[in-house]
Amino acid sequence: MKYMTAAEKTTLAQFLDLAGAYCKGGFRSRQQDYQFTDDVQPDSTSAASGNAATDSLECIAGDIKTCEACELCTTRKNAVPGEGAHQPLVMVIGEGPGADEDATGRPFVGKAGQLLDKMLAAIGLSRENNCFIANVIKCRPPGNRDPQPAETAACAAFLKRQIAILEPRFILSAGRVSVQTLLSTGEPIGKLRGKFIDFPAADRVIPLIATYHPSALLRNEDLKRPAWEDLKLLRTAITEADLGDRLLQ
Ligand code: URA
Repeated sequence: MKYMTAAEKTTLAQFLDLAGAYCKGGFRSRQQDYQFTDDVQPDSTSAASGNAATDSLECIAGDIKTCEACELCTTRKNAVPGEGAHQPLVMVIGEGPGADEDATGRPFVGKAGQLLDKMLAAIGLSRENNCFIANVIKCRPPGNRDPQPAETAACAAFLKRQIAILEPRFILSAGRVSVQTLLSTGEPIGKLRGKFIDFPAADRVIPLIATYHPSALLRNEDLKRPAWEDLKLLRTAITEADLGDRLLQ
C-alpha cells in the first residue's frame, strides 16, 4: 500500500498490538490511543502530469484549454492542443500557435500551415489520415516571439502525455524552437536536420527527424531544397520500416 489514511494506520496499529500481545502469550497492555494523520498524496491528476492509467487525448486537450501554468494564458484567445489521426504514423511537432491558430484553436491553419499540409501531402501524409499535428507550446506567445524557457517548461508535460497516448511511429520536428526544445539542446537546426535522431519517449525510442519550419521556407526559398531532402528521408524510413502501406497514394 503506497499511501495510507489515518483510519487505515489505526487499524494496522491495532492489529499489530493484537499480534504482539498474542506472541507475548496473550498479555495485552492498555489500548493505545493513536493520533495518525492521512499521508499527503502527490497531485497525480494535476494538469501537467495527468494520470497515466486513465489519460486520453480528450483529457489532455481539456487540461490544456484550462491551463494557467504560465503567463500565456492571460493573452491567449484559444489554447491549441493539436489535432489529427490517433496512433499516427507521424507526429508533426511545431513551435507554437500563431495568430490564426490562436483565433481558431487549431494547429497550423495559417499560411505556414497550408504549406505544411502541402509538404506532408507530397510524401503521402495528412492530418486527416496518418499524422497528428501539435506544438511544443500550446498557447500563442504575444507577437509570435520565441517561447521563454519557463513557458516551454510549463507546457512540456502536455506534449509528453500526448506522445505517450498517441505512440507515433515517427516524429517530424518543424523548426528550430521545436527541435531544440524536444532534444534540450542549443545546437543550430542546420546541424540537427537531415538525419534521424532517437527521441526517448516514456517506454520506447521514437525516430525523430527535424526540418526547417514552413514559415522559414516562406521567407527563404533556399531552404526548400534541404526541407524536401528531409521529407524524402522520412518517406524512405517509413517504407523501410514496412509502413509504406499507411502512406496515401
Ligand atoms: N507555427 C507553428 O509552429 N505552429 C502552428 O500551429 C502554427 C504556426
